[in-house]
Amino acid sequence: MIKEPSHDLDRSYRFSVAPMMDYTDRHFRVLMRQISKRALLYTEMIVAKALYHSNKIDTLLDFNEIEHPISLQIGGDNPKHLARATKLAQDWGYDEVNLNVGCPSARVKSGNFGACMMADPDLVARCLEAMIESSDLPITIKHRIGIDNLDSQEFLLHFVDKIASIGAKRFSIHARKAWLNGLNPKQNREIPPLEYEKVAYIKNKRPELIIELNGGINTMEECLSKLKIFDGIMVGRSVYKHPLRWKNLDEVVFGEKPNKLKASNIINSMIPYAEIHLKNDGKLWDICKHLIQIVENVPGAKSWRNNLTINSQKYKNDLIIIEKAARQLEEAGL
Ligand SMILES: Cc1cc2nc3c(=O)[nH]c(=O)nc-3n(C[C@H](O)[C@H](O)[C@H](O)COP(=O)(O)O)c2cc1C
Repeated sequence: MIKEPSHDLDRSYRFSVAPMMDYTDRHFRVLMRQISKRALLYTEMIVAKALYHSNKIDTLLDFNEIEHPISLQIGGDNPKHLARATKLAQDWGYDEVNLNVGCPSARVKSGNFGACMMADPDLVARCLEAMIESSDLPITIKHRIGIDNLDSQEFLLHFVDKIASIGAKRFSIHARKAWLNGLNPKQNREIPPLEYEKVAYIKNKRPELIIELNGGINTMEECLSKLKIFDGIMVGRSVYKHPLRWKNLDEVVFGEKPNKLKASNIINSMIPYAEIHLKNDGKLWDICKHLIQIVENVPGAKSWRNNLTINSQKYKNDLIIIEKAARQLEEAGL
């Protein structure tokens, strides 16, 4: 399916939802759009080589129009594959393409891409160059502050300068280094300390670059205080686990009108979308696994979540399950 290229990014990167494999799928992104119309949403990482060889490109790339502004994140170390993936992203109507140079997983490392590419800035530059040449979309990069013993401030500045010279439009920097040997991906998101000052140093030295800070940001207050220094804030786990915590973000970050969003509004607004998904042979749980995050810290939350979890897996294509879940919230004034 070929679509018209669409929206201007319009500084949507002021607040973005991080790419997260198995979490930020298209259903979660549609859910997120009920909470924020303005935040930039990233896809899960798609491996450029898989796209290159796939005969199911639609399955990998299709998204819903309401997901704009949306950034396609790709991973790979082969400029030819990455160029093709970028061209496809443009044809599909994505708003930008982001290269993943931050993922430390063994699978990604064995493919010689992700965070290990930080050791070879020339290779990253060649990849980005190929992506930039293949489309008119903004090309951005997500990376760490370092890997293994390549973790000095000078190394990071040199890396960023090299990438900036190629024409990357934005840097999303996860403010932790990654240990490629010895730590698994989960540990690499928790054990290496957050070093925001290293990212701040880059912004200070290179004020003309657009720098998006990522890692460990859990509240709107933290986010606003970091926005005084950085151009954008990217939040991953806290948005996924506590979506409603961020319900005022369009107002607070983007200056939109206040909303009175409740959990029941969100579930209700997902019903027409779920209906179409079921008609296309999708399963209720594909959507409900994300919806259960909406209700927390209120009496009865646990049993509401349990019921929705069990029933949406048992009655795989019965819309009534979501309708009932929404009604329960309405009755509780939530
Ligand atoms: C389950 C999970 C999957 C992730 N998958 C990706 C991914 O596909 N691409 C990527 O660049 N980062 C990925 N990340 C890292 C996040 O984008 C983010 O950098 C990290 O979680 C730190 O931000 P946070 O503290 O706000 O969660 C993933 C993180 C989690 C928790």
